[in-house]
Amino acid sequence: MQEDMQDYGMLIQAAFRAREFSYSPYSRFRVGAALLCRDGAVFTGCNIENRAYGPTNCAERTAIFKAVSEGKREFAAIAIVGGAQGQQPDWCYPCGVCRQVMAEFCDADSFRIICAKSAEEFRVYTLRELLPEMF
Ligand code: THU
Repeated sequence: MQEDMQDYGMLIQAAFRAREFSYSPYSRFRVGAALLCRDGAVFTGCNIENRAYGPTNCAERTAIFKAVSEGKREFAAIAIVGGAQGQQPDWCYPCGVCRQVMAEFCDADSFRIICAKSAEEFRVYTLRELLPEMF
């Protein structure tokens, strides 16, 4: 458990670094994610918005698609941090689309979703908790 918490701290910090790259001029809601592969590799992502709104990509999917596009498909956990620009990060939960993308690649019971306000303050969920009765 102690080891888990340490890993989550590193992953959360990686998510905060990724959040710095958030491109979110329309919502001004900045999100970062860090995806831990089962082999220990980490892929980060930020939200990337678009003037047409619809093509916007969430931080979580950016990280997952980066990983899958480089041959990774086995994932252990994802840390997510987000909040309004210029304010303290708030709890930021993955949207329904990102949960469904996680369902494609992640084990419902062992994959951990870590929603964090800081490296010390975080909540841990399984995918099944956040997406019950999944397709
Ligand atoms: N967003 C994410 O990147 N991840 C989430 O978990 C929630 C929402 C982004 C999408 C959009 O750029 C902005 O946050 C506001 O919805």
